[in-house]
Amino acid sequence: MKILLAYSSRTGNTKKVAEGVYEVLPDNSYMVPIDEGIDPNKFDLIIVGFWVDKGMADEKAKKYMEQIKGKKVAVIGTLGAYPDSDHAKKTMIRVRELLERENEVVAEFLCQGKVDPKLIERFKDLPPDHPHGMTEERRKRHEEASKHPNEDDIREAQEIFKNLIKSLEKGEEKCN
Ligand SMILES: Cc1cc2nc3c(=O)[nH]c(=O)nc-3n(C[C@H](O)[C@H](O)[C@H](O)COP(=O)(O)O)c2cc1C
Repeated sequence: MKILLAYSSRTGNTKKVAEGVYEVLPDNSYMVPIDEGIDPNKFDLIIVGFWVDKGMADEKAKKYMEQIKGKKVAVIGTLGAYPDSDHAKKTMIRVRELLERENEVVAEFLCQGKVDPKLIERFKDLPPDHPHGMTEERRKRHEEASKHPNEDDIREAQEIFKNLIKSLEKGEEKCN
């Protein structure tokens, strides 16, 4: 089984999770920044790493996902919101909808990632009733996000992908 992990990361959070996941992939797997433009369709399993931008996978990751056809795909995402929030759930629904048009989504992992401090500075100038204005709830969320991805996040992602690989390898054995 040929595995590609292609990630998009602006400030390093998604890259950090991708590197953790890569450690538990079989030795002959590839990890590349999405910018390198490797053809995903040469692989059997494609893991796409993205960061959330306006409630969707970032533009580069989205464009990359659109190229994948007839494959098993898994995703790793990081975002500023809590992973169990409605915003996170809706984001994942959008990502799945995009991928499931042409592919089978076999695993997903989402965790918080620290938000670019420059962006937070800009939010501070907005009125509190603005969707991004600074309220106590948002300040707390940013503070929590600033601690992620942490070791527990990486471990959780690794467990998901270890199990995925095991089950895919079992499936391959059955076919042989
Ligand atoms: C321009 C911009 C837009 C963002 N939009 C969202 C968003 O819609 N929802 C969210 O939960 N986080 C949002 N974030 C937070 C990032 O998704 C989060 O910090 C992510 O971990 C960044 O990943 P990276 O370090 O791999 O670039 C945004 C961040 C930036 C800079």
